[in-house]
Parts: sequence; C-alpha cells; structure tokens
Amino acid sequence: MAKFNQTSLGKFQYKDLEQLEADLQELHLSIQISDDLSVLGRPISLKNHVIPNSLATLPMEGGDADANGSPTEMTLRKYEKIARGGAGLIWVEAVSVTKDGRSNDKQLWLKEDNWEDFKALNDLIKKTARETYGPDFNPITIIQLNHSGRYHKVNGKPSPVIATRKQRLDDRLGIDHTHPLVTDDYLDELQATFLSAARLSRKAGFDGVDIKACHGYLLCELLSAFERDGRYGGSFENRTRMMLDVVDAVKKDAQCEGLILATRMNIYDAQPYPQGWGVSEASGSDIDLTEPKQLMQLLLDRGVEIFGLTMGNPYFIPHINKPYDMGAYVPDEMAIESCERLIREIGSIQQDFPQAVVVGVGYSWFRQFAAQVAAGSVSQGLCRMAGFGREAIAYPDFARDALTHQALDRTKVCISCSKCSELKSKIGTCGCVVRDADVYLPLYKELKAKEASAQAGETAGQPDTGSQTASKEVR
Ligand SMILES: Cc1cc2nc3c(=O)[nH]c(=O)nc-3n(C[C@H](O)[C@H](O)[C@H](O)COP(=O)(O)O)c2cc1C
Ligand code: SF4
Repeated sequence: MAKFNQTSLGKFQYKDLEQLEADLQELHLSIQISDDLSVLGRPISLKNHVIPNSLATLPMEGGDADANGSPTEMTLRKYEKIARGGAGLIWVEAVSVTKDGRSNDKQLWLKEDNWEDFKALNDLIKKTARETYGPDFNPITIIQLNHSGRYHKVNGKPSPVIATRKQRLDDRLGIDHTHPLVTDDYLDELQATFLSAARLSRKAGFDGVDIKACHGYLLCELLSAFERDGRYGGSFENRTRMMLDVVDAVKKDAQCEGLILATRMNIYDAQPYPQGWGVSEASGSDIDLTEPKQLMQLLLDRGVEIFGLTMGNPYFIPHINKPYDMGAYVPDEMAIESCERLIREIGSIQQDFPQAVVVGVGYSWFRQFAAQVAAGSVSQGLCRMAGFGREAIAYPDFARDALTHQALDRTKVCISCSKCSELKSKIGTCGCVVRDADVYLPLYKELKAKEASAQAGETAGQPDTGSQTASKEVR
C-alpha cells in the first residue's frame, strides 16, 4: 500500500489532483475526475419543476427537535446556512412519521399539531435562498419521511421495532429470538401514517416527499424480509409491497397533488443473503443489483422522480455508507475504495435508467477535490445530481464555491473524522464538531468528559488487569 499517495492507513493525503489521479490508476479504480465544474451548474428539469443546479445537500439528521418533534432554533440555524449555500436540491433530514418510529427523543416528528412549525422551516429555506441568489432562485425541498424501525430509541434506550430477524444486526443490538416482529396489521396502518405525513408535508409547502428505504430503517429492512411470513415477506412482490403501496397512496391522494415523489433507497445492504438486499443469492455476499433495478423500474412507472441512492448501514458498517479517515474501527479496505463502490454501483443504476434523477453520494471524503470528483461522475452519466452529506454541515457554502469559484476551500471541507456520527449515536444531537465548533465542540467535549469520568469510575471499581477494552460502539 505504501506505493500509493494515500498513507498506509488509507487516509486522505492528496496535495493535488495529479496525486489523486495517480492512485486511481494504480488501484484500477473507476472514479472519474473533471476540472470542468460547469456541469454541476446545469439545471435539472422534472415533470413540473426545475432544480436550479445539479448539487444536492443530503439529509443529515441533527437530533435537534423539541420534545414535540418540532424544529428548534438549532434546526432553523442549520437549514438557513444550508439554504445560503446555494445547492439546487435541499434534502431535509429524516423526520419521523410516528412516535414509535423516532430514532431518539430529539428527532424531528411531523404531525397534525406541528405542521406549521415545519412550514416555518420550509419558508425559511426558500426565503433565505431567494434573498441570497435573487427572486428567481428556487431550490427544491424534499422532506425525508421515515420510521426508524430497529433503531427506534426511547429516553436514549433502544426500543427496536423489527419486521424480520437479521442475525448480525440482532446480535449487535441484543435482540433475541423472542423479540416480536411487527404484524401485517401494523404495517397496513403504517401506510396510512406515511400518507398523513405526506399530506402534512404538502401543507407545509415542501416540494417533495422522500419515502425513505435505506440504512437499515424499517422500510429498508422490509426489502430484504426474505424470511418473513405473510403479506410483507418472502417474494419480491411482498418485500416491496410497503414501499410501493405508500408511493401509490401518495400519488393518488388529492391532498398530495403536486408533490414530487422521491426516495432515499439502499441498493446494497452489505448483509449476507438472505438477510440483505441487493446481495447475490449465489455467493451470499456479492453485490447483485437485479432486484434494486426491478424496484427502480416499478417506482419510475409510479411517478417517482428523484432517487437518492445509497448503501450499507451506518450503525453496523459505516465505512460502506460514509467512507472515513477516522472512525470507530479500521475498515478492511481503503476509504477511496469504499467511495468507488458507491460511485460505481450508483452509476450502474443511473446508466440503466437515464430518465431518472439519481442523486449520487460518495464525495465528501475527497475534501477540496470533491467537486472535481462529483463533476467527473455527472459528466460521465454516473448520476444526474451529486449529493453531499457531511460536507453540507461542515461547509454549507460548498455549492456556491464550486459554482462561482470553481474550487472548494481546503480549510473549510469535511475531514471525515466521524465526530458528528459519534455525537449522533451517543447523544442524538449532532453537527460538525470541527467546522461548526462554536455550537458542536462543547457538546463533544461534554460527551468526552462524561465518558472519561464513567471510565475512571469503572476502573476504580475493577481489579487492574493491565489491559484496556476498546469501545465496541460503532458510529
Ligand atoms: C450525522 C449524520 C446524520 C445523517 N442523517 C441522515 C439522514 O437523516 N437521512 C439519510 O438518508 N442519511 C443520513 N446520513 C447519511 C448522509 O446523508 C450521507 O449518505 C453520508 O454521510 C455519506 O455522504 P457524504 O460522504 O457526503 O457524507 C447521515 C450521516 C451522518 C454522518
Ligand atoms: S464532524 Fe465535521 S469534519 Fe468530522 S466527519 Fe462530521 S462533518 Fe466531517
């Protein structure tokens, strides 16, 4: 590995694009780079809307809602900064559709008594963008509707809602074989809950709704419910029923008329068959996009226009989903290889469905060269829009800088340190600890102080074995 410009630890070390290109060649990775960032400024036409450029901010759950699930000052501050950044598509983070679907007590939760608070959030995004870029600049807003399923927490404690058993994930969460599965009736009712949330999203003024089916949450879990009995498990038709029925319901509903239909969808779970989606039955572990592509076609036929494609499970194998330099464990591949998997496989879907607006991911790790890598993907038809997750909270102005200065500022980019993810998994509330330090560094320091004192307490109560156990928490 030493012959590559990345260090032997696989961390980002590139001083210029030539070094990055040399590694890509040496490693036989298919990532494309383009110096011409103008492709990122191209508007994207949808059926009834125009996305003003090809850059998207991806959903980043911040755990900053109040007890009622409404956006707080902290939420509004975050989206105001994002809106000022100039991305054409602003994909609002995971919002729970129901109390028992919340990932923690501080997750946003959209319901009848607080839709006006969400309207204020959407209005702020639109107004900020107009004030910054002129009256004609109208970024498209998509709200992500979710049930967090096995990652539902109450008072900071896991309270998993599961649809099927998944040995590796169950073991990690301490879910035993007696833990009940949600019933078909529960899932039938949940369809109506998603529909209500979509209606409220429309009332709140969002341009579109994302029926979320990624990262191991409930609708994602159902896609690989090969071993579940009943109407929602087993066959492809049954496993995709929940998602397709919700999409159909929203599509046909008069109160949802005009909403753009979108989904953030896994194309590969990186869990062994038959407990993973997008995984080869023959090998049990390799990527097989046959079913994700079948589902893409069905969703397109139903009018879904925007697809934020993604992979993996951030709670279990975060390097697949958000390649990093520092994190809870050292992956068995270099981060640049994880990025390539995302870009290549998402590209394979975009190339099969050129009419779909696929929002790609896998760029934040490239730091000051992320825009050139994104431009390479867009110009090669590997995605029509480039999406940025961590970059959106580290460097909310990344889109403006890419489009107006043709460059990202090395001193502002995300450094893939995983501190935001660590905050999310341990306290719920998170943001960029490094680049938005005034707000989030104190939270991180407080967490570390608590951990240190808990560890000191533990050590004081234990015999000295002369060894330390590494934290198993995955973030
Ligand atoms: C702290 C944190 C919160 C996230 N919240 C969400 C979320 O609400 N919904 C979602 O679909 N993805 C979420 N993601 C995943 C990101 O949208 C994105 O897919 C991931 O960070 C990889 O993209 P990047 O390399 O540009 O960061 C989150 C990621 C992080 C680190
Ligand atoms: S804390 Fe900031 S710099 Fe670190 S990974 Fe998160 S967004 Fe990037």
